[in-house]
Amino acid sequence: MNRKTFIKTSCLACTSLGFMSSILEGCAPPKYTTGTLQENGITIPLKEFTRQKKGQTVTREYVIVRHDELQFPICVYHLGNGSYSAVLMRCSHQGAELQVSGDRLSCPAHGSEFDNHGKILQSPASEDLRTFPVSAINDQLFIDLRKTT
Ligand code: FES
Repeated sequence: MNRKTFIKTSCLACTSLGFMSSILEGCAPPKYTTGTLQENGITIPLKEFTRQKKGQTVTREYVIVRHDELQFPICVYHLGNGSYSAVLMRCSHQGAELQVSGDRLSCPAHGSEFDNHGKILQSPASEDLRTFPVSAINDQLFIDLRKTT
C-alpha cells in the first residue's frame, strides 16, 4: 500500500468511526425497571423517564417494565404533554415476546409490527396489542392492570 492509498483509507475509516459514534450516541440503551407491584397494578417512578446526556436532562421515549410477576414485559411510552401508553409486549398473533425499536414494537417470530399505542402496522397479526390505562400520580406512574384499554 502506498502513502496516498494509506491516507485515503485511514481518513475514510476515521470518518466512518465518527459517523458511527454520532449514530450510536443517539441510540440510548433501553431503560428497564421492575416497578413496584401493587394490589391493582404497578407503579414506576416518573424519574425513570429521564437521563443525563452531556450534562442535560433528556426524556426517554419509553421504559420497559419487566417484573417477575408479569408473564410479559410492558413497554411504557412517554407520548409527550404528560401522556403515556402502556403496551403488553406479547404479540397478538401467536404470543411471542415483542422487541422495541423506537416508537414501534416488532415481532421476531413472523414480522408483525405495532405502533406505540399497540395498533397493528404490519400483519400477520390481526388484533391490536393489549394495553393498560396509565395515570400520573405525584411523582409516580400507575399502570392499572385490572383493565385494558
Ligand atoms: S407471533 Fe408475532 S407475528 Fe406471529
